[in-house]
Amino acid sequence: MSFTDTLLHWHRTTDRQLPWKDTLDPYKIWLSEIILQQTRVEQGTPYYLKFIEVYPTIHDLANAPLDDVMSHWAGLGYYSRARNMHKAAKHVTNELDGNFPDTHQDILSLSGVGPYTAAAIASFAYELPHPVVDGNVIRFISRYLGLSLRKNDPTLAREIRSFLTPIIEDTIPSVFNQALMDFGALYCKPKKPDCELCLFKNQCKAFMERRVEEIPLPKKKLKRRNRYFHYLHLEINNEILITQRKEKDIWQDLHEPPMIETMQDQELIKQQIIAYLDIESNDLELNAMIDRRKQILSHQDIYASFYKVMINKKEIITLKNRWKWVKKEELQNIGKPRIVDLYFKDNSITLFS
Ligand code: ADE
Repeated sequence: MSFTDTLLHWHRTTDRQLPWKDTLDPYKIWLSEIILQQTRVEQGTPYYLKFIEVYPTIHDLANAPLDDVMSHWAGLGYYSRARNMHKAAKHVTNELDGNFPDTHQDILSLSGVGPYTAAAIASFAYELPHPVVDGNVIRFISRYLGLSLRKNDPTLAREIRSFLTPIIEDTIPSVFNQALMDFGALYCKPKKPDCELCLFKNQCKAFMERRVEEIPLPKKKLKRRNRYFHYLHLEINNEILITQRKEKDIWQDLHEPPMIETMQDQELIKQQIIAYLDIESNDLELNAMIDRRKQILSHQDIYASFYKVMINKKEIITLKNRWKWVKKEELQNIGKPRIVDLYFKDNSITLFS
């Protein structure tokens, strides 16, 4: 039997009732997929039912105050999902005349939607042949193909997508994708899957090579590190000195005040600041560090310190490294790292936000 025939044969023997399975409404399908992104089906289902009761259409969701949406989300975690969802609902309602996007590409452009979620919506709502590649599918297919790659290696998802894409073309995409997900979640489990009874046992490379339990390889543990960012807040005549991060590093393309990074957790001394700004000692007066914040990222902790640096005219600063003076009221329109944004907000720097 072909891969598809075996999978669909298995799927006909399982009866997994899920409340979003019998709808074609892209709004409801999208809602369910956002909820299920980082949440188990059992935990997510009551939230899904609550949301469609309180917000039966995308229009209702878009018009609800964010605080209300957040309060219904309480307990699910990963709150940026709710914020992005509300933003996307407003976008569809206000910019797209309430028409939910109907191509994979357009669905992908909604806030909070990645390739997996876009493929799920495209197939369940519109029968578009895009395979869903989530954690369960990655485990199932990497065993089937005997791929010894790490779970979070992007090559793995790419290889799986290129295996599944031609196959899904000859199927009913919604049925195929649901079967794929269900098989990964219910049968091809992380630990002790029942390989002896599995319909794929004569095709599954990992089973034949006795490597089922070791595939896919675990994520490589990233070593955490601390980084110390010292931001120089220079402000004169209602303007603030800002630069743009261009390096291949965190926060690429975002804007922030000039910054000195140190290896150790130490307060800057005046000499370091003078050298960095390339000015004379008596051109500058320094307030001690005025604010300190921490942001935890996936594999680094950022400790940001902010220093108010007083100068008496802006001409003493030679603009280098994309430095530019930005009017305070324009600050709100440029993308900034969260930690910088909060610093400005808490210090009432954006006057007209
Ligand atoms: N997890 C994410 N989407 C799902 C779906 N449509 N069915 C079952 N589990 C899922």
